[in-house]
Amino acid sequence: METLKVIQERKSIRSYTSQKLSKELIEDILNCGRLAPSAKNRQPWYFVVVEKNIKNKIADLMLEYVENNIQNLKSSVETTAKIIKEVPILVLILKDKNNDTIISDTLSIGACVENMCLRATDLGIGSLWIRDVIYVEDEIIKILNHENRELSCALTLGYTNQIPRQRPKKELEDIVEWHNE
Ligand SMILES: Cc1cc2nc3c(=O)[nH]c(=O)nc-3n(C[C@H](O)[C@H](O)[C@H](O)COP(=O)(O)O)c2cc1C
Repeated sequence: METLKVIQERKSIRSYTSQKLSKELIEDILNCGRLAPSAKNRQPWYFVVVEKNIKNKIADLMLEYVENNIQNLKSSVETTAKIIKEVPILVLILKDKNNDTIISDTLSIGACVENMCLRATDLGIGSLWIRDVIYVEDEIIKILNHENRELSCALTLGYTNQIPRQRPKKELEDIVEWHNE
């Protein structure tokens, strides 16, 4: 697909079929994350692909968290947990621990995840970039046995069950100014 079309077509997908993704397709998407630019070329990312039991356990932990904690987060985190249950594949994006480079490493991970979202769109696969997993970061890190890393975010991958309309986007004229003098 042409780059501009991929950028325009990418949308957050929140409903998935149960159709499995091949390992080749998942690896293709992860590879596009790997190729992203990163500050000082640190490549601070590490991907853990989970499905079935571990994926559902993460969703259950999120649901438990919202039951026992802040009520105003309930609907957002609950909705995200239900999406995680439905989607066949969840990629957890871990970040190397480094207190001196938090902001640049976080920006680098943004580039990495967007590369993966765009490649997924290109391949006809739906994705959702997720931060809500962070409420159960400690538990996830323990389950994955990656105590030397931090959880940055997650990405769902699956065949879409919906064709969402584009979410409202700010107009260019409202977010750009030029100084040509
Ligand atoms: C850093 C980041 C974190 C996000 N976390 C969540 C999340 O936890 N749950 C969710 O449903 N959507 C999440 N989203 C998706 C946004 O809600 C979505 O990108 C936004 O509403 C614009 O819609 P679009 O992606 O279809 O253009 C996240 C997006 C980004 C970039």
